[in-house]
Amino acid sequence: VIIAQITDLHVGFHGSAPDEPNKKRLETTLAELASLTVKPDLVLATGDLSDKGDAQSYRDLMRIFAASGLPVYPALGNHDSRATFREVFSDALFHEGFLQYVLEDWPVRIVVLDTLEEGAHGGGFDVARAAWLDRQLSAAPDRPTLVALHHPPFPSDIPWLTTQPQAGWAARVEAVIARHAQVVRVISGHIHRAIFRQWAGTLAAVCASTSPQVALEMADMDAHETDNRRLIVAEPASYMLHVWRDGVMQSHCGVAGDFPVLARYDPVTHHNISHIMLEEPVA
Ligand SMILES: [Fe+2]
Repeated sequence: VIIAQITDLHVGFHGSAPDEPNKKRLETTLAELASLTVKPDLVLATGDLSDKGDAQSYRDLMRIFAASGLPVYPALGNHDSRATFREVFSDALFHEGFLQYVLEDWPVRIVVLDTLEEGAHGGGFDVARAAWLDRQLSAAPDRPTLVALHHPPFPSDIPWLTTQPQAGWAARVEAVIARHAQVVRVISGHIHRAIFRQWAGTLAAVCASTSPQVALEMADMDAHETDNRRLIVAEPASYMLHVWRDGVMQSHCGVAGDFPVLARYDPVTHHNISHIMLEEPVA
């Protein structure tokens, strides 16, 4: 199975016009995923789907997702509104009042969590959500599982967009994941940058955003005094492909857009490329 991940779409940041930049960036990304020769089986959109949690953005998203021809499964982020999403988008994936669900159709089981804490920028994961996750994981201990959530439950090294190590909600996610050895990957968003980390006995990946990226600036930051550092940069829209093959999950970072092609597999390159492909491995 190939699981594509997109995150932090922030549709509606510049208003509701059809050519709104974050909408265009999302459409570019989905068009690229749909045009891959080896297509993803599904797309997980891991939160901050809308920038303001408004109904118009969710209607636009439904249309854009449908037009892509790919099955897109949503998660909620801190910019989303659970109630508005549920009303406009879909009620079907809600369990116990949260947008949390399990997908069983593929060789990797997919568990989507809801870390939205209304009114907060950071995440939330209460005892009830932790118990729900524990039950889902306990139900299939032998099936390799990917867990998706918006907020990374660990520090990011980006001082203004991080999860405090003492956050109770993050410790709650970690305690459950650490108990279930079948979790082969934990994927999230929120930081608008690609990050990989050993965490809770598995590998955690943070996918870069389709909307503009957060600058990679790790220096300490003073909440009371500005220092003119770069915060947001217009790097291109990004996505990840999590590929499950031969009992291993391997994750790739992709960048969407119309970049110049510097070499193709054609008669000009054929000799060199075939030489590389046919080389005998060193014993
Ligand atoms: Fe976020």
